[in-house]
Amino acid sequence: MEKVFVYSSDLVPGMKIAETILNDYGAIVVSEGTVLDDNLIGKLKNLGIYRLQIFDREFIKVETKDVFQKKYNENVKKVKELIWDISIGNGFNSAKVNEVVDSVLEKADERSDIVNCLNQIRSADEYTYSHSVNVSLISLLIGRWMKLNDEKLRLLVQAGLLHDIGKTKVPFDILNKPGKLTDEEFEEMKKHTVYGYRILESVPLIDRDVLAAVLMHHEREDGSGYPTGLTGEKIHLITKIVSVADIFDAMTSNRVYKGKETPFDVFKYMEEDSIGKLSPVVVNVLLNNMANYYIGDKVRLNGGETGEIVYINPRSVSKPIIKVGNRYIDMMVEKDVKIQEIIS
Ligand SMILES: [Fe+2]
Repeated sequence: MEKVFVYSSDLVPGMKIAETILNDYGAIVVSEGTVLDDNLIGKLKNLGIYRLQIFDREFIKVETKDVFQKKYNENVKKVKELIWDISIGNGFNSAKVNEVVDSVLEKADERSDIVNCLNQIRSADEYTYSHSVNVSLISLLIGRWMKLNDEKLRLLVQAGLLHDIGKTKVPFDILNKPGKLTDEEFEEMKKHTVYGYRILESVPLIDRDVLAAVLMHHEREDGSGYPTGLTGEKIHLITKIVSVADIFDAMTSNRVYKGKETPFDVFKYMEEDSIGKLSPVVVNVLLNNMANYYIGDKVRLNGGETGEIVYINPRSVSKPIIKVGNRYIDMMVEKDVKIQEIIS
């Protein structure tokens, strides 16, 4: 494929970049093969890059946020219908699931814009339905970063969409209880894994990996999960990916209630508290790929000053180096510094 030089002022969304762009600190801002969107073009201009190489003749149509949002809402609506059908005893509609799976998979060629779009549209309404779509999108991203083949990616999307389907059999007042669940209620809630398995086991052609993910997505590496307390080596990769995506989405969505959690708080949780619980391989893939996306973002720190994320240490992605004026703050060293908010 031929490479050509273009001026950064001529960049438009959809161009595929033909070189890896580093900032002054050696951190990758955009890697070769990435399809540009408005956000990335802004970052490249901020870096002061004058011209760069793109792949000639390869122009990928990038979805705008509006298009993404429209498709996303349609998918959420279909998941809602699917869940409603099961609740009222109409059975499981495979055709409808496949429609949503196809729609999610259409995004498989694009790169960073899923992260960008997901960050924009999270909302607290209709949590279960949008959570299912989010988990399938995040699972798809992780699968792609792990270079899984198309067949596995399809299973990941299915498993993500269906992982909590068993919640349709959990009593409504437990599912929607505002306060903490009693031990008894929690035991009932845990059964959504087994209920989900039962709903799907008789569905023709359902893949065993998808069934396993529905049953086991709350199992943990150290055996502390449910329903059976399996340990890491018994848990399939598809399930491990869905478990990480499930927790990641639940934590980032919680932002709506807690107000002040940034993605870096979630990264910190993933780095420190998920040890022994979630697959370290999958967590690392998520952290390294997601975190790089924030290089070049402007942040406000707990002292009130604003700065820019210039380097993310792969060994501790929750503690980046931040440039504030002419000063560099390494959060690995300056432990009192916290990121309060991401401004752009
Ligand atoms: Fe679940």
